[in-house]
Amino acid sequence: MNSLVVPKGLEGVIVDRTEISTTDQSGNLLYRGYRVVDLVEKLDFESVALLVLTGKIPDPEARSRFSDLLKTNSVIEGKVREIIRVLREPNIMNNLRSIVSLYPYKNRKNLDLLIEIASKFPSIIFYSDVAIRGWRDIEETGGTYAERLYRILTGRDDRENSKFFEKLLIMYMEHEFNSSTFALRVTASTLADPVCGITSALSALKGPLHGGANSEVLDYLLKFKSEDEAIRFIENKLSRKEKIMGFGHRVYKVKDPRAQYIKSQLKKLHGYDSVMKYAESIESYMWQERHIPVNLDFYGALYMNALGIEERFFLPVFASARVFGWSAHYIEQVSSNKIIRPQAQYVGPVGLKL
Ligand code: SDX
Repeated sequence: MNSLVVPKGLEGVIVDRTEISTTDQSGNLLYRGYRVVDLVEKLDFESVALLVLTGKIPDPEARSRFSDLLKTNSVIEGKVREIIRVLREPNIMNNLRSIVSLYPYKNRKNLDLLIEIASKFPSIIFYSDVAIRGWRDIEETGGTYAERLYRILTGRDDRENSKFFEKLLIMYMEHEFNSSTFALRVTASTLADPVCGITSALSALKGPLHGGANSEVLDYLLKFKSEDEAIRFIENKLSRKEKIMGFGHRVYKVKDPRAQYIKSQLKKLHGYDSVMKYAESIESYMWQERHIPVNLDFYGALYMNALGIEERFFLPVFASARVFGWSAHYIEQVSSNKIIRPQAQYVGPVGLKL
């Protein structure tokens, strides 16, 4: 069979079919055929997660069974807590990757195991934080997935803010063949178990060009005292050919619908006027001067900051939502599998003699 030479980074290359989600250049994002901007207004996180996992919007009974499952599975065993305590790893993403990779792969139904692993993310984040900052008396298991996670991150039971937070989790949940999802699918295509798949995805997500961008946005955004200062900073970085975190996208060349939605929600959170002004002037500068659109990580970082979530939790929040999208892709990959194994064009030396 003749080989096909494709652009570096598989840019613009369709490598497989999926029924889970789709994005298009004009900025629509569908989960299982529904526009995410509609889902986020009408359904809660548990219902959207079940839709992404199964392809169907759950009835109230199925939704509450799933919600109970996430709660009962959320507790992590004593020996795992002890490993986290001994590790004392300050980077929570490293803990998520290490603890998930240790997860005992019981010969179980893949979907049950994937849901069990996903349920543990909030508690792994909690005990990682406790190992570094000491015990905090937080009720770990009550409430919805978003309320639980928000309480663990901020120490606060705040229904209104948890609702805002839940919208961000839905936006982060799923995104077609992004790098971490594709890393998971390559792993799943070898028929490695779900624990291996999620571990691959967590590793890929950590990169600053992918999930790691949101933690770098605040490093620059909160220090400006004027719009001129903000634009000068961006101009200097661009002149040094440095990437502006929170901008650009492989698929969205006009707008990231998630960024625009979270920006609209951010405006409902108080006390953010000056930062929003600088943020919007950077957004319009990047579009007018470079035609580079803002992505979810830019306004997502500001949004989490406005909700009182510390920067070190930004990427673990992304992972705690995307683990449901990864789980759906694991199931889809193994359900009609062919091992993913591309070729390379050899450009190295030939005919060398020893
Ligand atoms: C996520 O794929 C997904 O769906 C990812 C994601 C998801 O939900 O899973 O949406 C989450 O990862 C969002 C992206 C977060 N990363 C960042 O914000 C990091 C900064 N962005 C860039 O690194 C870049 O835009 C990428 C990685 C996001 C996209 O890479 P592409 O597709 O290679 O970028 P491009 O082809 O549009 O860029 C063409 C040129 C670049 O040329 P190179 O230097 O790459 O050769 O445009 C310039 C640059 O010159 N450019 C930028 C830029 N993005 C593109 N210049 C400065 N700052 C930027 N952010």
